[in-house]
Amino acid sequence: MSERPTKAILRVLNGEPVWPLPIWIMRQAGRYLPEYRATRAQAGSFLDLCYNPRLAEEVTLQPIRRFGFDAAILFSDILVIPHALGQEVRFVENEGPKLDPITSLADLKQLKDEIPLEHLDPVFETLDRLSTSLPRETTLLGFCGAPWTVASYMIAGKGTPDQAPARLTAYRDPAFMAALIDRLVKASTAYLIRQIDAGAEAVQIFESFGAALPPALFDTLSLDPIRRIVSGLKAARPQAKAIVFVRGGGSHLARFAAAGVGDALALDWTLDPAQVLPTLPKTVATQGNLDPLALIAGGEALTNGIDRILSAVRGRPHIFNLGHGILPETPTDHVAQLIARVRGA
Ligand code: CP3
Repeated sequence: MSERPTKAILRVLNGEPVWPLPIWIMRQAGRYLPEYRATRAQAGSFLDLCYNPRLAEEVTLQPIRRFGFDAAILFSDILVIPHALGQEVRFVENEGPKLDPITSLADLKQLKDEIPLEHLDPVFETLDRLSTSLPRETTLLGFCGAPWTVASYMIAGKGTPDQAPARLTAYRDPAFMAALIDRLVKASTAYLIRQIDAGAEAVQIFESFGAALPPALFDTLSLDPIRRIVSGLKAARPQAKAIVFVRGGGSHLARFAAAGVGDALALDWTLDPAQVLPTLPKTVATQGNLDPLALIAGGEALTNGIDRILSAVRGRPHIFNLGHGILPETPTDHVAQLIARVRGA
């Protein structure tokens, strides 16, 4: 018999309502923190930071020390998967990620068939260190990008409005798209299993670009690949918990729940929990979904935004979070106010 978890986030992921709500925020280790900017400057490039276990551990711990969040999320990036598969990846200051695009089956053949997990050993070492350095009550989260979101960077070589290059590729060359998604499903599943073995207690799958997909492509490119990753992970490591964040996936959430994909579904900031929660089974946990701009604005925008969520999710298994990542211009005292209000409710 498995023991009941005592960490608040794991209790929620088991379907138990917990009050006050546990809280963490997406991109909680990042440029809004002066201590992050200092470590980042020391590391050299962004990828050097991702692959330096001592510094990656340090930046993962920074928001925990400062705010006492209920979860720590591994510091890394979704693009370490294409990097490990052999694609050139760099992060250009103020521009974001740049990759050498792969646009055909012939290009895909140049990449590795199976992910060489030893390329990611520094990431697993970061998790291993964190599993002993974190406070006992803090849940350790691993993560990966969902195949469609990662594929959109691999194909375009950069971030693109509405992921047009990848979408066009999905229509014009479905065989290449299917092969790329399949490669990413296998790589991501193996990667997440190793993250669990290295100490992650739950993982989040980031489908940041769910909003770009038309209904005709959604299931093959988003729902099915995510379902395959979650079921592969759970078949191998039954104790592993999964949070699925599909930004722009609001109209598909009930189908994710019905298909049993994810112990928690994360809501983006456009969704009203008061409307969405009644459409989901009570056993599926949710996460979210304050507008990151309300956190920048502070004042009444912040308190009203928090209170709306709190009243809608009371009695349900819910993890408080933002509806997308925290932005670099966010004042740190607003983050402290957010936590105080959620914990004081
Ligand atoms: O604190 C955490 O949440 C953990 C670390 C984390 C990062 N990226 C660190 C990071 C996580 C979970 C991610 C996921 C990620 N990376 C996503 C999915 C989540 C989302 O926000 O939608 C995506 C799409 C990426 C790809 C990516 N990485 C982009 C587009 C950028 C540049 C954008 C920017 O803000 O500059 C990155 C770089 C990146 N990843 C930074 C951080 C803290 C900033 C880079 C820096 O410090 O110079």
